[in-house]
Amino acid sequence: MTFLSNNIAKAVEFLKQEDVVAIPTETVYGLAGNIFSEKAVKKIFELKQRPFFNPLIVHLSGVDQLHKVVEYVPEEAKLLAERFWPGPLTLILKKRPEVPDLVTSGKDTVAVRVPKHPVALELLGKLDFPLAAPSANPFGSISPTESSHVANYFNGKLSMVLEGGTCKRGIESTIVGFENGKAVLYRLGSITVEEITALIGEIQVKNKKEAAPDAPGMLSRHYAPLTTTVVVDDVSKFIADLPDQRIGVLLFQNTVEAPNIKAQKILSRQGNLEEAASRLYAALHQLDKQELDIIVAERFPDVGMGKAINDRLKRATQK
Ligand code: TXA
Ligand code: MG
Repeated sequence: MTFLSNNIAKAVEFLKQEDVVAIPTETVYGLAGNIFSEKAVKKIFELKQRPFFNPLIVHLSGVDQLHKVVEYVPEEAKLLAERFWPGPLTLILKKRPEVPDLVTSGKDTVAVRVPKHPVALELLGKLDFPLAAPSANPFGSISPTESSHVANYFNGKLSMVLEGGTCKRGIESTIVGFENGKAVLYRLGSITVEEITALIGEIQVKNKKEAAPDAPGMLSRHYAPLTTTVVVDDVSKFIADLPDQRIGVLLFQNTVEAPNIKAQKILSRQGNLEEAASRLYAALHQLDKQELDIIVAERFPDVGMGKAINDRLKRATQK
């Protein structure tokens, strides 16, 4: 049995013993361990069945801890950290030699962020080491936004899930790195492109699948339900051609009526993209459990958080 509790002191104890604990953040739950413990970091990779070439994000208690893990902070990174930390922005910066190669997959850079969740911040404040934490899901599957999602994935294999309620943002952090001194966005996430552009000007977006991805979160099949999933512009029209299928639909604002719809999830009745993002993964988890033939998702408006939602939906459709 995995121990589900809001006891932060207990989580501290496990982490100090080089164990792995699932922790809440404002984006998704993470599988956390001491970055300096080879035992803990190896357990993270094993639990996730994640290839060792895919590096982990390092979570800090505050921006004051940054100098302990990175060599150098470019001016734009300082601006971004000041504006968005604590919060869902990950910066990829030149690492200090003390950061183990296992955490960074041998890269000379390290991904860092300060999470904005009261439980995560209190926990990090009680530790004298940062926490490596990838999203708490097996490699390639839907990220967890509730403690029950984590428990379902890792029941019996994980010593503790630290309870922190439903994750407020619900989509992973936005990842920004630097190439020849210029900021590059590697993963669309909970900080929008527009927010970043407003602060530092136009930024190149490289959120694509590549042969050797800079951020393997860009691998095309990722965040995927087991049920076949498609994204379409007109849900009613698409499902009219599938009369004999058991269909689940995932919609932004408005209901669709049809006899072949067996399950329906509306992400935001008010048409609020932030609210839709916060509910996306829970809706996919629920639809995936309902023995449907297909999940038909509506394409979202391609602005603000809509871009990150469309990105995750697109990856959910790939096999
Ligand atoms: O919101 C989040 O970022 C969550 C919470 C738990 O903080 N974490 C998360 O971690 O999404 P994960 O491991 O699922 O995704 C981290 C991504 C991966 O695609 C990884 O390849 C990339 O960050 N990454 C980590 N270190 C990197 C580095 N040094 N250079 C390039 N990409 C890196
Ligand atoms: Mg992940």
